[in-house]
Amino acid sequence: MATSDFVVVILAAGKGTRLKSARAKVLHRAGGRSLVEHVVRACQPLKAREIIAVVGHQAEDVTGTVAPLGVKTALQQPQRGTGHAMVVARRAIPSRAKFAILLPGDAPLIRTETLAALARAHKETNAAATILSAEIENPAGYGRILRSDGGSVSAIVEDSALTDDQHAIREINSSIYCFTLEKLWPCLGSLKPQNVHKELYLTDAIAVLREKGENVQAVLAGDPDEVLGCNTRADLAAVDAVFRRRKRAAVMDAGVTLEMPETVLIDPEVTVGADSRIEPCVQLLGKTRIGSNCTIRTGSVLADAVLEDNVLVKPHTMVIASHLSRGTQVGPFAHLRDGARLEENARVGNFVEVKKSVLGEGVKSMHLTYLGDARIGAGTNIGAGTITCNYDGVNKNPTTIGKRVFIGSDTALVAPVRVGDGAYVGAGSVITENVPADALGLARGRQVNMPGWAATRRRQMAAAAKPAKSRPRKKSKRRAPARRSKTRSHRVRPRKASRRR
Ligand code: UD1
Ligand code: CA
Repeated sequence: MATSDFVVVILAAGKGTRLKSARAKVLHRAGGRSLVEHVVRACQPLKAREIIAVVGHQAEDVTGTVAPLGVKTALQQPQRGTGHAMVVARRAIPSRAKFAILLPGDAPLIRTETLAALARAHKETNAAATILSAEIENPAGYGRILRSDGGSVSAIVEDSALTDDQHAIREINSSIYCFTLEKLWPCLGSLKPQNVHKELYLTDAIAVLREKGENVQAVLAGDPDEVLGCNTRADLAAVDAVFRRRKRAAVMDAGVTLEMPETVLIDPEVTVGADSRIEPCVQLLGKTRIGSNCTIRTGSVLADAVLEDNVLVKPHTMVIASHLSRGTQVGPFAHLRDGARLEENARVGNFVEVKKSVLGEGVKSMHLTYLGDARIGAGTNIGAGTITCNYDGVNKNPTTIGKRVFIGSDTALVAPVRVGDGAYVGAGSVITENVPADALGLARGRQVNMPGWAATRRRQMAAAAKPAKSRPRKKSKRRAPARRSKTRSHRVRPRKASRRR
């Protein structure tokens, strides 16, 4: 459909008093995006001559959100109602434009096809204004459509101005309209602030058009959900629920199993490959891309993550801005973030954090470990409790571990440091110097065994615990070994110390 004679106008200047928020209403989020971004995205495929947003409250922030999407803005200051907003928009509308599709920035569920159908109907009926209406269960809060006997629209009555019998009208004004601009402009001048808010209501322009004998139509939205507006937090939650349901349905259509789908939260840009399975209470956020045959187990959160095929994410794992290659397994309770990358078949287990590190093919790090700013070669095993000490208080330093390395448990690798291919690091080491390829790096205190020490201590403690009268008067020179005496002669000496290397 040719819409080059159309402009789109989005009303986004209001404060949103009913949200009781410091943030402008249209910047509140539902379905993984700000409200106004949803509206802009629904309008973009119409290829209108221009998309113009009327901004006012927090104008800079709203402009910052819509300008990157190719939207021009017009500043409404102060905000004197939806009718006044259209007066302001006029300055930004090119004179060649004949029609305007007008939308509120707070009704984000609208679909492109519905807007295109509205514009088509408007042209076909030669109307001065065409309103997108809807019949909804609970119309409270919305303006209602008054129809004359012939079926055309005679007026919109705001909720606060309804007479008793008008309350029963279930056909509501969505605030989405198509206007023939040369017919609309003269009407805006006749609007009066005759309402409690002392605002100029665009809805009053409908009655003005009718008084001039103009043709005003309303077309019913096929899906009433599409017109839901967000005036309150409850409205935001209801709209969010619709977005989430739509997205889950699309993901399931693509061949993905969602267990207890109503508990799974998926952002709009997420993609999931066929035969993948998502367990309950999972969140897939941002630009996450998941391949085929993956399993994301319960309680896991993935944001901007890339998963190739056959990846297993075990319960309660976070994968943030990280890449999991084919066949990798992570979790339970793992945390991968900031550019962590696992090559094929690598495995990360419980209570392991990986930050900005590359784990080569088949690397295993299964327990209680922090790997930050590290590169780890294929086939290496990282023992339980390994820590890369990457931060020296000022800078982050790299740790480089070669291929087929064995890092013993409870090793601290003080970066910058390198461990060569095929090397071993003994458990409990604090590695501060490079370990050459195929060497054993060992950096820990040597063990001392004192034969009989424990038995002596137990005897002394038992003696000390006896009641005073049964104890000999003279103080024993021997004391419990744990209480250190100042003089050497009181120390318990091991009979023979054996050292283990
Ligand atoms: C409006 C309609 C109502 C309709 C409902 C549908 C009017 C008077 N009423 O009511 O008939 O049923 O939408 O959701 O139009 N805005 C500006 N500048 C202003 C005032 C508002 O840009 O000076 C913007 C707001 O940011 C918002 C939109 O216009 O995006 C609608 O305003 P809002 O206050 O939400 O109108 P409703 O009371 O919902
Ligand atoms: Ca509204």
